[in-house]
Amino acid sequence: MQIIEKTLENIFLQTITKIYPKLNSAEKLFIQKTHNQKFGDFQTNFPMSVAKIIQENPRTIGQTIIDNLETNHLIAKCELAGPGFINIFLKNQFLSDHIKQIDIQPWDFSFLPRAGQIIIDYSSPNIAKPMHVGHLRSTILGDTLKRIYRYLGYEVVGDNHIGDWGTQFGKLIVAYHKWLDKDNYKKHHITELERIYIKFANEAKKNPELDDQARAELKKLQDGDPENTRLWKEFVKVSLDEYEKTYQELDISFDTVQGESFYHNSMPDMVKLLLDKKIAQIDQEAVVVFFPESENLHPCVIQKKDGAFLYATSDIACLNFRKNNYKVNKILYIVDERQQPHFKQVFSIIKKLGWNLDSEHIPFGFISFSGAILSTRAGNVIKLEDLIAEAIKRVKKVINTKNPQLSTEEKNQIAHVVGIGAIKYADLSQNRTSSYDFDWNRMLAFDGNTGPYLQYTYARIQSLIRKSKTRTDFEPTANIILDTDTEKNLCLNLTLFPQVLIKTMEAHKPNTLTEYLFELAQKFNTLYNSMPIIKETSPVFSSRLIICQKTAFILKTGLNLLGINVVDRM
Ligand code: ARG
Repeated sequence: MQIIEKTLENIFLQTITKIYPKLNSAEKLFIQKTHNQKFGDFQTNFPMSVAKIIQENPRTIGQTIIDNLETNHLIAKCELAGPGFINIFLKNQFLSDHIKQIDIQPWDFSFLPRAGQIIIDYSSPNIAKPMHVGHLRSTILGDTLKRIYRYLGYEVVGDNHIGDWGTQFGKLIVAYHKWLDKDNYKKHHITELERIYIKFANEAKKNPELDDQARAELKKLQDGDPENTRLWKEFVKVSLDEYEKTYQELDISFDTVQGESFYHNSMPDMVKLLLDKKIAQIDQEAVVVFFPESENLHPCVIQKKDGAFLYATSDIACLNFRKNNYKVNKILYIVDERQQPHFKQVFSIIKKLGWNLDSEHIPFGFISFSGAILSTRAGNVIKLEDLIAEAIKRVKKVINTKNPQLSTEEKNQIAHVVGIGAIKYADLSQNRTSSYDFDWNRMLAFDGNTGPYLQYTYARIQSLIRKSKTRTDFEPTANIILDTDTEKNLCLNLTLFPQVLIKTMEAHKPNTLTEYLFELAQKFNTLYNSMPIIKETSPVFSSRLIICQKTAFILKTGLNLLGINVVDRM
């Protein structure tokens, strides 16, 4: 089914092209929902945005368009307003028919530029280190964007670009032989690997010879020494196995897991290419790319004088791989804001190489805990698994008091869905680029802009639907009655969902979607609290119940796109 904004756009475009054939109107025409029903249901400021080009008064343009509007089945009337707005009032019959199609016919998103693949590079933890809440944002942001792009009909490749290569492995191998506590390692692999890694750093301060040993082990690894390769593979495996538990808990999956090591063999070619093309140069025995002053970037080292490759080299090799192996529409890097300079360097280099790849860094801010930034050094890192367990525990307590009669199994399942949902929602409802403070009470509240509130609203509708099961007067195809502002407001809101998804995708800001869902839930609860539903008889009962079903459908679909599940009761 065509989304309303598109249908309106087409009608206006047809009219405008007839009146102003020379005008490139498609670029200037935006149809938006109004904020106040006095001004109609939708609105456009098109007359104002073209007034200069056409050299006519915007109100005259507006009136001309209104007078010549193509006949159609959805607009009841248009009104000229203010300096040159066109207010659009929809026919109730159209709105009713449109809403009835909501969970029956999928929306038509074929007008989006969907050719090729969207590659989303997200999560990407570093091997032998535990995942902590800092990785949370990348993981759930990337997952949400993947789900939304897919829903809009894009082909998406979710890639977990793990940090599985680099100097840390030489150090780990030395530390492994010297200090590994085998029992601890068996119990909790990553914790023990992290412990010996930190020990290495401390010992090396006293005894710099350790660094030489680490370099030698790294060299052996890079030259394919079987024992070091075996160890490295073990580190990667035990780490991935552990991350996988968290991913499963969070319902996160990837299409490919290709870490930095995957690109190792092509890194020498990248260095050669950059040197041949005179993009890089030898500087104090290292290979370096210098940038023009206008780009305001630090020089980027591609290869150190000891022959080692760097983070940027692996990203260039990775882009080369993606260029050769995918039909790239767009590449998105969901990585924290501190890496902005790194991506600027990499993107500048591939531009110099003439690779035409639409790559974008999607940065995000930090999570703090009661005002404190979490860092390994400050020793206040909270592990993701502990955080998840805590959320579930807290929700279980609430469910126990709210709904003690539920079975233990059901309580556990609800606590899991609501706990995980609360964590994800708390993150996704923040403006991506700002930092935020993790606040248990706020994120677990059953009212306000929270995951539990939306899930609760969904469950409330399911309860209504359950209670209506025995009603024989329900007509599933009944007309939707839009006589009150409350009903009309909610129904109009339902129609906005597809356009909200497009906006969320375009700015890569899931909080656009959460704000929409929050508003929808509030509008629904206004109806629920002020109007009888079950107590009504048909046709009003049928109409309101259909509105309930459609609201539930949008809430569930929207939450699922945020990676959040729903429950039928809570
Ligand atoms: N492993 C890196 C880190 O934790 C993030 C990798 C992001 N992706 C990339 N292609 N550079 O800092």
